[in-house]
Amino acid sequence: MTKNLPMNEFPLLDPRDGIPLFYPYVPSEAIAEVTDTLSGRWIGQGPKVDLFEKKFEDMFLGQHRALAVGSGTDALHLAYLLADVTADDEVIVPVFTCTATNIPLLYIGAKIVFADIDPDTMNISVADVKRKITPKTKAIVCVDYGGVPCDYDALNALCREHGLKLISDAAHSIGSSYKGRMSGTCADFTIFSFQAIKTLTTGDGGLLAIRDTSLLEKAKRLRWFGIDRSAKQGGIWENDIVEVGYKYQMTDIAAGIGLAGLKHIQDVIRHRNELFKAYETHLKTSRARLVGHAETDDYFTSAWLLTIIVDKDRIGLMKFLRERGIESGQVHYRNDRYSVLGGRRNDLPNMDDVEDRYLVLPLHPRVRAEDVEKICGLINEGW
Ligand SMILES: Cc1ncc(COP(=O)(O)O)c(C=O)c1O
Repeated sequence: MTKNLPMNEFPLLDPRDGIPLFYPYVPSEAIAEVTDTLSGRWIGQGPKVDLFEKKFEDMFLGQHRALAVGSGTDALHLAYLLADVTADDEVIVPVFTCTATNIPLLYIGAKIVFADIDPDTMNISVADVKRKITPKTKAIVCVDYGGVPCDYDALNALCREHGLKLISDAAHSIGSSYKGRMSGTCADFTIFSFQAIKTLTTGDGGLLAIRDTSLLEKAKRLRWFGIDRSAKQGGIWENDIVEVGYKYQMTDIAAGIGLAGLKHIQDVIRHRNELFKAYETHLKTSRARLVGHAETDDYFTSAWLLTIIVDKDRIGLMKFLRERGIESGQVHYRNDRYSVLGGRRNDLPNMDDVEDRYLVLPLHPRVRAEDVEKICGLINEGW
């Protein structure tokens, strides 16, 4: 059974006193962008949202189209609706992820089928997905945990074979690539999150990338009450609303922050990947191993999280590091611990094996290579 790490024993660290686990990255140009937005006519969804979508497509999406929304969770809900997931369907999802991946399936009432993790990456296990496909399966959801891409060739092949939709939760993996293809171009639908501490932040925000571009207009309507917003903005609007929509749009305030962030994102990604490499270089104890790699022949990670798996006494290591000014934590929990998601399952042996042994260490733009050397030195020393 998962033990909660005793966070209350560790009040959040003042960054002047050590190395925090997370710290938002907001470039100074964001202030000018927000000032500019607030001085103009459009502070809700306006031209900066359009520009943000266009720039995002140019940088990351190839032929896929972008729909900017209020959060990654909004994008997931829209992806499930556009994939035609209904209350009669089963959806195979990763057990190890942020609850946001799976909660929107509860809005729809679909049956959640948890798949186990791959022990090397903590991403969804393709072998277990295969075992769990039934005639009722409508879609597979996968998460690029920490930034490391899933096995998209295998997942797409399964989807083709069984007529399923693939939904990629790339909340962690903006700028990662799989066999030369950018994260965002590997599935029918991909979602990104620009929540406060993500690699690119807009305060809160998200984006849905869509492979079938004919779905874009429907996606836009679902984003805004079911209304064709461009027709409405023509001045006179007489159309009916025929489908249930939501209020999921991004604002120009958020898009301005995102546009400023995009100017620096390649540097941020490079820095993050280099820190991952520094962990690979300096962590030299048989008591801890890294989850995933900075780069392999198959993938490159933009490295949102750095996760280790220890032999035992994770809480002891967490305390040991915290006493030395270094924050660490679990960040995500196996989702079958939550009653709302149906409670504990007994067919997830790889998850069972590591649930009390994984720990996330600091990796963000304020962390330097020397910090990584120090953190690894402490872990190598033992706890
Ligand atoms: C894997 C994953 N999916 C989805 C989300 C949801 O994104 P948001 O917070 O933007 O709704 C998050 C994190 O916040 C996440 O870590």
